[in-house]
Amino acid sequence: MRIIRTRDYEDMSRKAANLISAVMTMKPDCVLGLATGSSPVGTYRNLIRRYENGDLDFSQVTTVNLDEYKGLDGENPQSYRYFMRENLFSHVNIDPARTFLPDGTEEDSEKACGAYDEILRRTGPADLQLLGIGHDGHIGFNEPADTFAKMTHCVDLAEMTIEANARFFSSREEVPTQAYTMGIQTIMSAAKVLMIVSGADKAEIIRKAFFGPVTPQVPASILQFHPDFVLIADEAALSEIGKISVGV
Ligand code: F6R
Repeated sequence: MRIIRTRDYEDMSRKAANLISAVMTMKPDCVLGLATGSSPVGTYRNLIRRYENGDLDFSQVTTVNLDEYKGLDGENPQSYRYFMRENLFSHVNIDPARTFLPDGTEEDSEKACGAYDEILRRTGPADLQLLGIGHDGHIGFNEPADTFAKMTHCVDLAEMTIEANARFFSSREEVPTQAYTMGIQTIMSAAKVLMIVSGADKAEIIRKAFFGPVTPQVPASILQFHPDFVLIADEAALSEIGKISVGV
């Protein structure tokens, strides 16, 4: 595990974009595993800027997203498909046919998850998987549990997650209670995993996840076992681990 300490969110976003750009430059037809939420917005902004400057080309890139709300279609502004279009896809030269997320409109969870696993099998492991972290240690929507779920599955969102995501909806009641998420085995099979974290509210979970025991009760802790895991976090998010962290 490698920790890159940054000054703030902007610095984190630039450094994350540096790393993603490096992967894209070395392998133009790479598979990028992508995330939604507040954490990656700045990273995507930086990637868009580089594309506009002529430094990045998405024409051969394939993307696979971590998760999607069950019951929301891509035209719903709260869906992750919509988020990705707004925050990245519609601003770069990516082929929309090569951008994959679980199908939130499929009511049959088994069918939706099986279909996404089939897509993930066809694309092959991501060259880089981008992650945020939830306050309870979730990655994708893999919530604290008794075991690590391997493949794509349907989850009941934890109360804490519903609360945290309510900020994107007009009321808490509107937040979907279920989502489809990539499993832990798929996340762990990525060649490189990059987690970006910003803010003091994430400091405690960062300490628990990466300086505590590996346990499915803190799903992100499994990343301690990943051979190429990079955590790019700002000073506030690293404030609980003080001098333990090492810069690179
Ligand atoms: C989003 C996702 C989630 C978020 C996490 C942190 O696709 O999979 O695990 O990464 O909830 O969200 P933010 O970045 O909004 O704090």
